[in-house]
Parts: sequence; structure tokens; C-alpha cells
Amino acid sequence: MLPEQHDILFSFLSIMFAVFALYVFGNVIQHCREREGINSTLWGGIFGAMAITCFLMTVHMFSLVQGDQLVFFFSTYLWTILFMLLVWGVFFKSNKIERQSAPIIRAFFFYTTISVLLAGYTNWLPQQRSDPPPKEAAVVGDMTMEEFAEMGRVIIFGAKQVAGQKSIGKGQCPLCHTFDPGDHMGRCPNLFGVEKRSHDRVKEDRYATSPVAVGEVEPASGIVKGKHDEVPEEYRRAGGPDEFIGEDYLRESLMCPTCYVVKGFGKANDTKSPMPVIVKPPISLSRVEVNAVVAYLQSKDTPGEFASVTVPLPQDDAGNTGGAVVEEDSGGDEEEGPVFVTGNEDIQTMINTLGCPLCHTIPGVEGAVGELGPKLHEKINAPERIKDPNYKGKATNTKEYVKESILCPGCYVVFNEEAGESYPDGLMPTTFGEQLSVRALDKLVDFISQTEPPAGS
Ligand code: HEC
Ligand code: HEC
Repeated sequence: MLPEQHDILFSFLSIMFAVFALYVFGNVIQHCREREGINSTLWGGIFGAMAITCFLMTVHMFSLVQGDQLVFFFSTYLWTILFMLLVWGVFFKSNKIERQSAPIIRAFFFYTTISVLLAGYTNWLPQQRSDPPPKEAAVVGDMTMEEFAEMGRVIIFGAKQVAGQKSIGKGQCPLCHTFDPGDHMGRCPNLFGVEKRSHDRVKEDRYATSPVAVGEVEPASGIVKGKHDEVPEEYRRAGGPDEFIGEDYLRESLMCPTCYVVKGFGKANDTKSPMPVIVKPPISLSRVEVNAVVAYLQSKDTPGEFASVTVPLPQDDAGNTGGAVVEEDSGGDEEEGPVFVTGNEDIQTMINTLGCPLCHTIPGVEGAVGELGPKLHEKINAPERIKDPNYKGKATNTKEYVKESILCPGCYVVFNEEAGESYPDGLMPTTFGEQLSVRALDKLVDFISQTEPPAGS
């Protein structure tokens, strides 16, 4: 799945095992040919089947990631090989073959022991061997606007795309937004044409007054609406006119989503935005990152043309105090590769990495106050969903229901009692199955199955 998360040594070992099984098969066939009175169909069949099994297990090893490879290797593969050696011995004994190719067996045992010890040792070391190199260090020195906008694109979509997966970077925007004309998925505006809109929004009558009036503080973000010179210094626009411009609108959309709520996309009569404050946890973009995202948004609809970009490059950024350019990467690996969770993380980190809090309020997870999806009170909700006559899924208990909801959100679309309509189908990503190891999925299901409304509410 993700090549950089394969364990090189175990992958190699499994290839060797497959080759060895093939060798054993050949050896048995040879003995059958050389000697009279051996049931060659039986023995050939047994060892042929074992060779095929080993081959298939090797293929399977390549579909696993590091931690699971280890588990599979020790729980299954190693025993299969030992079993094969045993049967090989039985073959020799029962057919009274004296010369048993002893050297090769000894060599094989020696090789296996050494490799397993070595593998055990390297896996005992911190598991960073195959992780991608630290990033962001690249933002030193001069950059062109094209590179800066590309940095914004990577923050939004991630650097690598895996076929069939929606690509999502540190900014998590594609969890909710679409970017291409005509591509709509429900509860969040399509960001195609947002550069153009950014200049018009601020002239709308609605903008001046609702849900917060220009000049007032929006409580959730602490931002003064419509005043670029009152944005916290570390994020403020560098220079330019005093009035609010398109760049400021885009920055405000990211830093204070509720300052202006696009019609039809808000909560409570469009007075509250379900979009997270991008400069606060869990997303927490820095000044340079926010500017990069704005540069991308301002230029994405005109490929190769950067005239409409008004944010400064990091090196020309007057408000950028040097240190902010080369950032420490505190947020994890999200912006590089596709997000993947192994199950070694604690549950809080897992859930934040996957982005569930952006859409769900989850009791017991700090900062999980998302409102695009149902509140996760699955201890109570799940049994009710299964009883619903409209329920067509396969789950018979809470855990199965939660698992089904994560892997196949469309299998049952929850009805929103408050709004009097179904939650949007197709908003919850359908790719979590590819982002979770088996162990991580179990851990997540265990946790979500236990969620219930906090005591006293
Ligand atoms: C949890 C879902 C969610 C995530 C994640 C999210 N947004 Fe939004 N966004 C929304 C919703 C809903 C709206 C419409 C309500 C509003 O105006 O705040 C919106 C509005 C916007 C707008 C204003 C659009 C307009 O037409 O005026 C911009 C710009 C925007 N988002 C950019 C982003 C970017 C960039 C990111 C990633 C860094 C992002 N959003 C992440 C849900 C989300
Ligand atoms: C982009 C928004 C979004 C994200 C991210 C998201 N969900 Fe959802 N989720 C929804 C919506 C909308 C629904 C309701 C519609 C439906 O049932 O498909 C839902 C439904 C659910 C349900 C069924 C709830 C019930 O009470 O029956 C569960 C469980 C769930 N999500 C778990 C998760 C988990 C776990 C994650 C993170 C791995 C996650 N979701 C990420 C939007 C999201």
C-alpha cells in the first residue's frame, strides 16, 4: 500500500521463503523421479500446494505495512515454513531416503536464525528507518511565487497522491471542500472561483452586518471582523492599502470562519460556520503556511499565472520574523504522504490525524466539536440505528455498526432530527479503510463504540 512503510528486511525474508518453498518442491519432484514406489501425485501435490501458499503469503506481505508485516510473519509465515520443513522430513523418512541434502537445510536454518535476530533487533530500534525525511526544511532561501503556491497546494492536498484515494494534506481542506468546477459534495462551498469571489464578498450588504458586524470581535476566533490591521501581528497582511482587500477576505475565511458565513452553508440560520479555525489546533497553520494557502487559492484558477496573488513570498515578508520561515514540523507527517495510522498512536492522536473532529463532536476527545456530522454518542446511537426500519446494513451490534459507519459511511445515512433532514451522504470520506491498519481500526472502533453523552447533559 505505502511502499515507504514496508519493512525491508521482512519483505526480503518472505521472498526468500517463497524461493525456498519452490526449491523444496523441486527437490521432492526430483526424488520422486529418481525413485520407484513413491506416490508422486500425493507428495508433489502437498509440496506444490505449500509452494503456492508461500508465494501467496509473500504477495500478502507486500500489501501490509511494517507493524502488520511483523505480526503476520511471526504468527503465520514462520510457522508455515517450519511446518513445511517438518513435512519434508516426513517425506524423507517415509520414503527411506538417506541423503537429505543436509547442507542446504543447515544453511537455511542458519540464514533464518541470523535474519530473524537481525530483524528483531532493527525493529526494536525506534521505527523511523523507513519514514520520509523531515520536511519544511526546504523553505529556506529564495522562492518563486510558483513554488510558494505549490507549497500551499501541498498543505491542502499533500505531496503524494495514492491512486483511488482522495488526497488530503495537513490543512485537511479536501475533507470538506471541492476545488473543481461542477464538483459538489454537500455541506461546504466549492472553492472554484474563490479568488474572484473574495473581492465581491466584502462588498455584499450581508458582509457588513452578519453574523458579526465589521469591527466587532468574533468570539470563537478572537478576530476583529473586516479589519486587516487588527489581525494578530504574526498573521497580519504586510503593507498595502488600509481597506479590506480580497487577500484579507481569504485570510479571514481561514482564521475566522464565522466572521462571514456563506449563505446556506452555516449552522443556526447561517450564524455559525462549521469550518474549523485553521490557525488553531488541530490544524494550526503558521503565518507562512496561511500565506501559502492564500497564494494557492488566488492562483489556482489561472494555471501558470500568478498576477492575482497579493501575499508576499516568505523572503519578502516584512512581518515574517525569519524564524517562521524554517518551521519546525510539529504537526506530524500529514502534509507529505497520505495520512496513515498504524494503531501505535494514542487514540487522541489517531482521531485528530484522521480528521474526525472536524466533522464530529466526540465526547472524550479534546477539541472535537465538529458539527457537520452527528454527535458521536454511539453507545446510545448505534443500537437505535440498527433498530431503524430503514437500516439496510449488516451490523448486529454496536461495534459492527461503528465499523460499518467508518468503512462504509453511505451504508446507512443518519437522519438529522434537529434539521429535519438526512445528513449529507457522501460528505464523510470513504477512504478510512485505506488509512487504517487492522489494529488501528479495531482500536478506533473500540473507542467510538464507548462514546456517550457527557454526564450531566
Ligand atoms: C470541517 C469542514 C471544513 C474544513 C476542514 C475546511 N473548511 Fe472551509 N468552509 C467550510 C464551510 C462549511 C464553509 C462555509 C461556511 C463559511 O463561510 O464559513 C467554508 C468556507 C470557506 C471559505 C469561504 C468560501 C467563500 O466562497 O467565500 C474558504 C476560502 C475556505 N472555506 C477555505 C478553506 C481552506 C483553505 C481550508 C483548509 C485549510 C478549509 N476551508 C477547511 C468547511 C470546511
Ligand atoms: C468531512 C466530514 C466527516 C469526517 C471527516 C468524518 N465524518 Fe463521520 N460522518 C459524517 C457525516 C455527515 C455523517 C452522517 C451521514 C452518514 O451517516 O453517512 C457521519 C456519520 C458517522 C457515524 C455514524 C454516526 C451515528 O450516530 O450513526 C460514525 C460512527 C462516524 N461518522 C465516525 C467517524 C469517524 C470515526 C471519523 C474519523 C475516522 C469520521 N466519522 C470522519 C461526516 C464526517
